[in-house]
Formats: sequence, C-alpha cells, structure tokens
Amino acid sequence: MKILILGSGGREYSIARAIKNEEASHELFFQPGNGATKELGKNLKISDYNELATFAKVNEIELTIVGPEAPLVDGVVDIFKAEGLTIFGPSKKAAQLEGSKVYMKNFLAKYNIPTASYIESDSIEELYKFTDTLTAPIVVKADGLCGGKGVIIAITHDEAKKAIGEMLSGKSFGDAGKKVIVEEFLDGFELSMFAICDGDDYILLQAAQDHKRLLDGDKGPNTGGMGAYAPTPLVDEKLYKKVRDRIIRPTLDGMKKEGTPFEGVLFIGIMVVNGEPITLEFNVRFGDPECEILMPLMTSSVSDMFHKAATNRLSDINVTFSKQYAVGVVMASENYPYASSTPAEIIVDEVHHKEIANNTHISYAGVSREDDKLYADGGRVLVCVGLGDTIKEARDRAYLRCGQVHFAGKKIRTDIAYQAL
Ligand code: AMP
Ligand code: GLY
Repeated sequence: MKILILGSGGREYSIARAIKNEEASHELFFQPGNGATKELGKNLKISDYNELATFAKVNEIELTIVGPEAPLVDGVVDIFKAEGLTIFGPSKKAAQLEGSKVYMKNFLAKYNIPTASYIESDSIEELYKFTDTLTAPIVVKADGLCGGKGVIIAITHDEAKKAIGEMLSGKSFGDAGKKVIVEEFLDGFELSMFAICDGDDYILLQAAQDHKRLLDGDKGPNTGGMGAYAPTPLVDEKLYKKVRDRIIRPTLDGMKKEGTPFEGVLFIGIMVVNGEPITLEFNVRFGDPECEILMPLMTSSVSDMFHKAATNRLSDINVTFSKQYAVGVVMASENYPYASSTPAEIIVDEVHHKEIANNTHISYAGVSREDDKLYADGGRVLVCVGLGDTIKEARDRAYLRCGQVHFAGKKIRTDIAYQAL
C-alpha cells in the first residue's frame, strides 16, 4: 500500500516502523515527519490539508493515518473523506472528545460512563461554590487543548480558586480556559488503554502505563510522558471486562447516537480506584510514548488493522499480540520540558551483543538530519525500546540500549516500569 502518516513524533515513527516490518512492502510518506522518518519513506512539506488531500489523490495514497490531535480537531479527516480518500481517525465532531473537556465530561455523564464528579462552567461564582464542597486536593481543568498543560491539581482551596480565576481571565490558557471544569481528585493508579475503533466495533490493545513526571519517583514537572511499558500486570481479565462494558461499549454506542460515530484511536486515561476503572479523560489518538511500546507488541499487520478500521470492517480481522513485554525509555533534551535546547549530534554505538540487537530498537522523535548526521532537536528526542519475556528483562534491555545512545544534555528517568517490579 501507499500510506501517508501525519505527524513528526516517536509515535508516528513507531507506526511507520511496524508497517515497514510487515511482510508486504509498503511505500510511506510523512507530513512532516522528522530527520529519521526520511529513512523509512519520504517527508513532505504540505501543511495545508486541502493541498495534502490533493497530493494523496494524485499519488494514489490508499491509507492516511493521523498521529497527533491537532489535525483531527481541525477536521483533516472530514477534508480527506470529502475527497473519497481512506483516512484513519475521527471526524472533527468526534474529535471533540479530546478537543473539549466540557464536551467529554458532559458526554460521559449523559451515557452514565464512570468519571470523577465535576462541574463545568464559565461563572467564577459557580465554580468557587462547587470547589468549596470538595476536599483538597482539587482538580481544575481548562476546556480546550493546552498541549497537555491544562490540568492543575491544586493542593488547597485557595490554589484551586487562583487557578480557576487565571483560566477564566484567559491569563493561563487564552481561549482554551474560557470554560473550566472543577472535579474531585481520584486516588488510585493510572492506566492508558487504547481501542482501535471503526464506528461500530473495536479492538482493545494491551493496557499500558505512562510516566508523566520528569523525574524518578514521579517527581518534578509534568511532561508528555518519559516512558511506558505494556502489558501491565496491574490489569486482569476482570478489569479489562469492566473497561469494555462500562467505558468503551457505551462510548461507541453513545457516539453513534449523537450522530458522530467514533472511528480512530480512542485513548482512555483511566484511574483505577479500589478495583473500579474511572475515566479521567479521552484522547482521540495514540499516546506518546505508549504507541512506541504497543506497536512492537503487535504480531498481525498494523496497516491492515488501520485500513480495516478506516473502512468499517474491523470485524473481518483477527488481531494478534506478542507474548512479550515492552518497555520504552524516553531520552529528552537538556531543557525539556521548560525550553528548547541547542541541537546536539546523536551518536549511536553499534550494538554487537546479539541479544540486545535483536530485542531493542530506537523510535526517533525530536531529531533532524544534516549531512547524514542525526541531531537532537529539543523536546523528547527518542525512545529506547526493549522487549523481553518478563518486564524486568525488557527493562534491562531498554536501559542497556540507552547506554549506547549519546548526545549532549541527554536525560532519562531510571525507574520506568517500577510499578510492575
Ligand atoms: P488529563 O489531561 O485530564 O488526563 O489530566 C492529566 C493528568 O492529571 C492525568 O494523567 C492524571 O494524572 C491527573 N488527573 C486528571 N484528573 C484527575 C482527577 N480527577 N484525579 C486525580 N488526578 C487527575
Ligand atoms: N503519553 C500521554 C499522551 O500522549 O497524552
């Protein structure tokens, strides 16, 4: 197939890598891609979605896969479908599940899907009043997309009220904070679950855990994610069933009833409280770095899975998973997540040890290429992925691989998958 992938991160690299490893050969295009996706296909520079759809038509692209949320919320799927193109991702309307937390919370409430009790409002008095009914910590969320920064866990009532005021005034997140959610704090452990959906049916991938904080022991500022592993032993069949019956099935049925059937990746952020899965949030795309560890665990064709999902035929296929575990360790640049960093050359040692070479790989994200050299370009630079028959084996291998990657200022967490060990 000729396949176009939208995005430039490690997530998109890992999807491309999985597709390239399939038996069938595929031709890949990236918009815009990164310095390493050039090795897997062709990087484009067509940021206008209408022009991109024309490119896809003229070049007979058979499948487009959308990585990040922004193009989805902007309606890229609607534009491609209007041109008769096959594209995997939700429509602009369905993408509101991520684009507006108010929409998402009201949807969850309407269809009785478990979530933290909340209020949504643009009135400071109403939000303050509800805040006073809660015990601290208190969770304050801006409605719109804030690049993963729109959630404040306030330790005191005063701190919560300050966050509410700053959001409503537009000071902290501009228009994205014009409406605010205040909700109860849930105390439990967090999971990332992913359902590949075709509007009617879905395939649930293995449950993963992300590591959102910058530093070991879940300390420091929030990031996009510093590492992940899957499948997590914290989830048993009973919990999977609860997630299917109480969250995914009613979501797909509800979205159909709303006239916005959900096609694409439903990313469910879950807090498990006393054995019960509660929905923290929906995203309408793969998590990053979760995608980088889930893709290598798939033993059936991922391009076929995305194509079947995009053409409402998921019930026709049998998706299979490896029996191994995957651990991914993010290597970020010096000033992440505060500021950009000066580009630094990346040196990757040759791996002579067969076991490590065969059971590890690198998914590249914030990298550029110049004169055949790779440079760390800031942000999250790459993910070292280790596979193994146990989580410990996968983790040891991932960290051995980390030791063979060098660039100035590189930083990693050293405790990825600690919850499972
Ligand atoms: P969200 O973008 O809604 O997933 O929020 C980002 C992070 O904030 C989540 O991954 C959780 O760690 C935390 N969080 C969000 N909502 C709650 C809540 N109601 N209780 C506890 N933690 C929360
Ligand atoms: N790793 C979490 C996210 O992609 O939102």
